[in-house]
Amino acid sequence: MPPIIADTAAITLAADLLKQGRLVAFPTETVYGLGADASNPEAVQRIFAAKGRPNDHPLIVHIANLQQVFDWVEHVPQAATRLAAAFWPGPLAIVLNKQPWVPMAVTGGQSTVALRMPNHRVALALLQAFGGGVAAPSANRFCRISPTQASHVAEELGESVDLILDGGACQVGVESTIVDLSGKQPRLLRPGQISLEAIEIVLGKTLLLPDSVATDIRAPGMMAVHYAPLTATVMCASEHLAAAVLSAQQQNQRVAVLVYSQPQNTADHSMVMPASADAYAQQLYAALRQLDALQLDKIIVEQPPQTSAWRAINDRLAKAAGRV
Ligand code: TXA
Ligand code: MG
Repeated sequence: MPPIIADTAAITLAADLLKQGRLVAFPTETVYGLGADASNPEAVQRIFAAKGRPNDHPLIVHIANLQQVFDWVEHVPQAATRLAAAFWPGPLAIVLNKQPWVPMAVTGGQSTVALRMPNHRVALALLQAFGGGVAAPSANRFCRISPTQASHVAEELGESVDLILDGGACQVGVESTIVDLSGKQPRLLRPGQISLEAIEIVLGKTLLLPDSVATDIRAPGMMAVHYAPLTATVMCASEHLAAAVLSAQQQNQRVAVLVYSQPQNTADHSMVMPASADAYAQQLYAALRQLDALQLDKIIVEQPPQTSAWRAINDRLAKAAGRV
């Protein structure tokens, strides 16, 4: 197992490893990231190998201060300056047209680059000590559940990561909101804790939605099966939950339920989640991981409310259930 630590000496060691082209997993406020020097294509290549992720999937470059944006981006539109002022450091990634030097390995061959300033003490300390941009996808194997605790990273990646910085459980729990400002109209690529509405207020414009425009961008967050447990997972409306459990059990299936409104005592295992969206999101991936580890036949998830506050959660659950 790689060492799991996070004191000042660990930050220095981690920054040195990044400078040597090695991989360091680190906590952010959303999920744990698997970091490499974003200016070093060989180091970035190690990320793809460790994750088992196809090379044409772009990575988010993490930075520690606003000045760094100009290292990566050719032209910084006013919309980006506004969003950064409103939400950075925080769970928002902004896609912009890249500087010519930015390695294609980072951008998946595209002419745009995603940037984000995370709001986490350990992440910012690491980025400051390192000094450059750190490319970091979520520190899970390709198509698996994102890690929200240091132990999850160890389970996912084992020896393929050189060091894991431990910052405890992530506060937000689902990946950042991604906004694409590289085109004529701003577009939401992935919902997250920072809502569509909050972004629209800052921009004074409506955002295009992910499915409202044809896209040839290879974004794993947009693929059908992503963030997926190995156990077959289905969504179910609250009022049909009891019947769905019974029906599965009649087919000799052992069933776990993930509910938020009330326990479902007839299931083989019932996990009750918080009824507030923020608290639910914070616990979601750890809960799915725990239910998956039970190795039952099915996970039935009570469909959360279809409101704006739950947009990111509904998005991830739909992907866990392979329905998008
Ligand atoms: O919260 C987060 O963003 C976490 C933490 C570690 O910061 N990172 C994360 O990275 O979720 P990852 O690789 O799992 O997801 C990055 C998403 C992908 O859906 C990718 O396609 C998209 O960002 N992306 C990155 N660069 C892009 C670009 N140039 N154009 C469009 N999408 C891009
Ligand atoms: Mg990911």
